[in-house]
Amino acid sequence: MINKKTIRDIDVRGKRVLVRVDFNVPLDKKGNIEDDYRIRATLPTIEYLIKEGAKTILISHLGRPKGVDDSLRMNPIAKRLSELLGKEVFKLDDCIGDGVEAFVKNMREGDVVLLENVRFHPEEEKNDAEFAKKLASLAEIFVNDAFGAAHRAHASTHGVAKYLPAVAGFLMEKEIKFLSTVRDNPQKPYFIILGGAKISDKITMIENLLDKVDIFLIGGGMANTFLKALGGSLGNSLCENDKLELARELLKKAEEKKVKVLLPTDLKIAEKPEAKEVKVVPSREVPEGYAAFDIGPKTVELFKGEIKSAKTIFWNGPLGMFEKEPFDEGTNEIAKFVASLSDVTSVAGGGDTASALKKAGVDEKFTHVSTGGGASLEFMEGRTLPGIEVLLDK
Ligand code: 3PG
Repeated sequence: MINKKTIRDIDVRGKRVLVRVDFNVPLDKKGNIEDDYRIRATLPTIEYLIKEGAKTILISHLGRPKGVDDSLRMNPIAKRLSELLGKEVFKLDDCIGDGVEAFVKNMREGDVVLLENVRFHPEEEKNDAEFAKKLASLAEIFVNDAFGAAHRAHASTHGVAKYLPAVAGFLMEKEIKFLSTVRDNPQKPYFIILGGAKISDKITMIENLLDKVDIFLIGGGMANTFLKALGGSLGNSLCENDKLELARELLKKAEEKKVKVLLPTDLKIAEKPEAKEVKVVPSREVPEGYAAFDIGPKTVELFKGEIKSAKTIFWNGPLGMFEKEPFDEGTNEIAKFVASLSDVTSVAGGGDTASALKKAGVDEKFTHVSTGGGASLEFMEGRTLPGIEVLLDK
């Protein structure tokens, strides 16, 4: 269990509880919610607070507004949350000020209110002490359930905890529990599936995990850089040409630590993602004019053959251009295979990874899919996240 106090450790009955959530969800051009995973993930905390007779005051950011921005108001989120809870969720037009204070004073036990986008106030990102005090004055207890924003030292994730007893919500607790299992204490054999565009984003995480992992299985854009570093021809594939030396160093470190690194043996290529003609070629023989957009079928089988013996799996980054058929096949096949395994702890982290698993229809079959993008990466790098650090120790 985690060494931070949670809402179970504090009496919330009849109290005003300020809950920082990460409702920073993707919106389409019309402002509709494209994916409500982050909202659904906070339901256990909110439902517990309702059941315990607390007065729940929710606060979140949405996007990166510069001042008030009508397209980034929290209204569609309040509506969705209200549908999910089967209960009215009040929505206010600001997060501080006289109107908000008057409203929260009159709340009844079990009421839920969602405040306006906290980033409409520039003081939020500055972690301004006066602003944090004003937020704190709304409540008697602070709950941080916004794992996705825990790497930000902002007023509503960090500053506010100086003025109120601060504890973790259930989502925060679950994120810390599963991500620390795969970071610090995995059951062996432990395999890490790595994808996404760039090695440079993930070097620190890879280095931090080298002492724990048995096998890295690498796909996606970052595999191209490793393949090229080994002397392959990658055609027009996405490749970090300035990171070839770094890729070689990482492979050498892995070898010294007896960590196996599996790279694709074949790749699915095309002239462009929208081209009709798609070919499969050996992984270091991509012709000029072509680019790799997915791992090939032999690689899928190779990866499956290894993964089946895992006891712990951590997955970060899609293995191909999963948004576009047929380049979603590699990611889909491996995702379904991991989901079909029993007796394995499977944890996924990173924004694109969660979307890719959802698209493959298996997100709910994983042991845990993190709601954090940057936050899960920083956590796996071994860094202290300010939004966790400020919570009360057990
Ligand atoms: C995220 O989407 O990763 C979090 O909500 C944090 O958002 P930010 O990168 O705008 O701080």
